[in-house]
Amino acid sequence: MPQSLPSVIISGTGAYLPRRVVTNDDMAKIVDTSDEWIRTRSGIAQRRYAGPDESTSFMATAAAEQALQTAGAQACEIDLLIVATMTPDMPFPSTACLVQSRLGLGAITAFDIQAACSGYIYALNTASNLLRSGAYKKALIIGAEKMSSILDFEDRSTCVLFGDGASAAVLEISEAQGTGILSSITGSDGSNPELLYQPAGGCIQPASAESVLARQHFIKMNGKEIFKQAVRVMGQVSTDILDRHGYSSDQVDLLIPHQANMRIIDSLAKRMGLPMERFHNNLDRFGNTSAASIGIALDEARRAGRMGPGDLILLVAFGAGLTWGATLIKWQ
Ligand code: UT7
Repeated sequence: MPQSLPSVIISGTGAYLPRRVVTNDDMAKIVDTSDEWIRTRSGIAQRRYAGPDESTSFMATAAAEQALQTAGAQACEIDLLIVATMTPDMPFPSTACLVQSRLGLGAITAFDIQAACSGYIYALNTASNLLRSGAYKKALIIGAEKMSSILDFEDRSTCVLFGDGASAAVLEISEAQGTGILSSITGSDGSNPELLYQPAGGCIQPASAESVLARQHFIKMNGKEIFKQAVRVMGQVSTDILDRHGYSSDQVDLLIPHQANMRIIDSLAKRMGLPMERFHNNLDRFGNTSAASIGIALDEARRAGRMGPGDLILLVAFGAGLTWGATLIKWQ
């Protein structure tokens, strides 16, 4: 990154988790599974499910209000809003437009990003570079998902893994040099979309009585293949971004990985030679909240005082697409 570019910092974070807690024992009443299987294979103990009144835009708005508050920012200062989601309130208009209205933002630029579980990193990358370009002054990014709305409660291999929630961050230009978001790397490979996808609801298979009966509006996943790719790609992109900035992995103070599977996170820790104390995880409590997951963990870590001035923070994600990304931050 050329040094002349202005710094972009995360000046506030927020999160929203629905109240309803669904334990593994609750899941065992729905599908043929057990607390033991889910814990040992994924590391998840419980997740949250949103109620009928808690849409993706509702959760996104609640997380955003918190982020604005912690940033000490007014809604009227935001001139860019990006929502990362794969479970929008509806196919269109964008969830970002609905949040724009709920928050009472002005006639600003608002749009969705669909990069599945990598959405938070994609949003961070897009917003920080648009701010650096000088086109905008203060951005709000949100990762929000109502995953329970696309789970197949007859498919035990997927429905036990995901949960609902939202997270948000306020991004702004800072005068301080060499601080804040150092840079991001994002990537994709769409050659095998059916590894993790929702077959129906788009133009190839529009909603029909047949598509509903065939359960085509739910998540389908080749878990084993996704697992292998996640371990490989998250390790690689983490190394790549550290190399780009001349850091070694032992200089990372806090690593926040996408919360999909504790065994994936353990493999990442081994590959990077980092103890688990340098990670912030909440998979056990919230499951995989897709685009919201990294932001929820980041908000928790910030509130717990886990990030101090000058700390090197690495965020890394992997998801459907396939998509992946990493962001390196020097905390202000
Ligand atoms: O955020 C996007 C990225 N997503 C991910 O990163 C998910 C990546 N994948 C995974 O996390 C893991 O592959 C899973 C947790 C989904 C599955 O773990 P696994 O060790 O790969 O299990 P498996 O799919 O090989 O299944 C092992 C056995 C099978 O039974 P058989 O064929 O050996 O008799 C499954 O039918 O476990 C069975 N099984 C279950 N048993 C109890 C699958 N799901 C369940 C379940 N409860 N919920």
